[in-house]
Amino acid sequence: MKRSKIAGIGKYLPEKVVANNDLSRVMDTTDEWIQERTGIRERRYGQKHKETTTTMGARAAEIAIQRAGTTKEEIDFIIFATLSPDYYFPGCGVLLQRELGITHKEVGALDIRNQCSGFVYALSIADQFVKTGMYKNVLVVGAEMHSMGLDFSTRGRNVTVIFGDGAGAVVVQPTEVENQGILTTKLHSDGTHAEKLAFINPGSHGGYHFDKMGESVDFGFGDEEFGGIFLTQHMIDEAQYFPNMEGQFVFKMAVQKFPEVIKEALQEVGLTAADINMLIPHQANLRIAQFVQKTLRLRDDQVWNNIQKYGNTTAASVPIALCEAWEAGKIERGDLVCLAAFGSGFTWGSALIRW
Ligand code: ACO
Repeated sequence: MKRSKIAGIGKYLPEKVVANNDLSRVMDTTDEWIQERTGIRERRYGQKHKETTTTMGARAAEIAIQRAGTTKEEIDFIIFATLSPDYYFPGCGVLLQRELGITHKEVGALDIRNQCSGFVYALSIADQFVKTGMYKNVLVVGAEMHSMGLDFSTRGRNVTVIFGDGAGAVVVQPTEVENQGILTTKLHSDGTHAEKLAFINPGSHGGYHFDKMGESVDFGFGDEEFGGIFLTQHMIDEAQYFPNMEGQFVFKMAVQKFPEVIKEALQEVGLTAADINMLIPHQANLRIAQFVQKTLRLRDDQVWNNIQKYGNTTAASVPIALCEAWEAGKIERGDLVCLAAFGSGFTWGSALIRW
């Protein structure tokens, strides 16, 4: 069986820089609190009404396609990972297809809903398609427009200060070169704690999972008709349409699962953490990345962190960080690159790549 490789990579960060002090003007928070707990100094926000998750993904994709030495006409499959899609449906995959003008042939487009680990999942799927010979030029995009769906009142501060907008993309192609390409990918999930980090409303749940939410919640369900359950007036009045997160719980799970899934991948291919040239962890929180680094006994030059500048860009964070490290000349042919992510679901995964 063939191997697949990342043939081209691109990123897009919107221009607008939002510093911690900009947030402390609209909610009760401080630059000091945010930096100390998360490492974040600033993040980017997309342009209101002009940019979307799809358009940012398209800008990153154009660069990846060009760097892969191919053209949009040659793309034969699209995989798009995001938790902040333009529409509830259809997904961003088809919107990206339209945005890029891939209209000459009706290539398949798949949306991945695996939040922070979405890109690793998407890459793994691309790897399987390319290895089996089904596709030769798979475009994999991770993009987020968080800024449109965050709570900018003090009530939302524990979540809002963390997230930023952006996009990253890669083109996955087959390779015949000995000792090059994606060596393995590992994917996991555990839905036990699905509500610990979730964007619950609006939705079709109708209150079914109430007992998993840990406290008595009231979304205003009464004897309304079916069509009134997806979004109730109560949800709107009480602003119950924002993401919620139990930060400390997520933190504890993340620092356990990141090293576990990295070691699992290394073990499969007979390597150790010392062999890693560059670890690209999902940029969830600088403290999580530092914990993982320490657990795996990696040097500073073996780990790429950029959450300080961009915040947590969820499905986009791994390809953005990978692209930035590559553009900085820190990833070279033959290097062992490890991608790892953990997030809402919970879902987590890793990928080992011989660049
Ligand atoms: N500014 C000021 N104070 C705040 C803010 C804020 N932005 N947010 C919360 N606080 C307050 C809380 O209200 C609380 O106050 P209290 O003690 O009076 O009740 C206090 O700070 C401590 O709150 P905690 O939630 O316990 O703070 P913690 O030290 O856990 O830090 C954080 C919160 C940064 C979210 C941390 O738990 C974390 O990073 N968790 C991991 C979750 C994560 O990384 N999520 C990213 C998305 S998921 C993913 O990508 C893995």
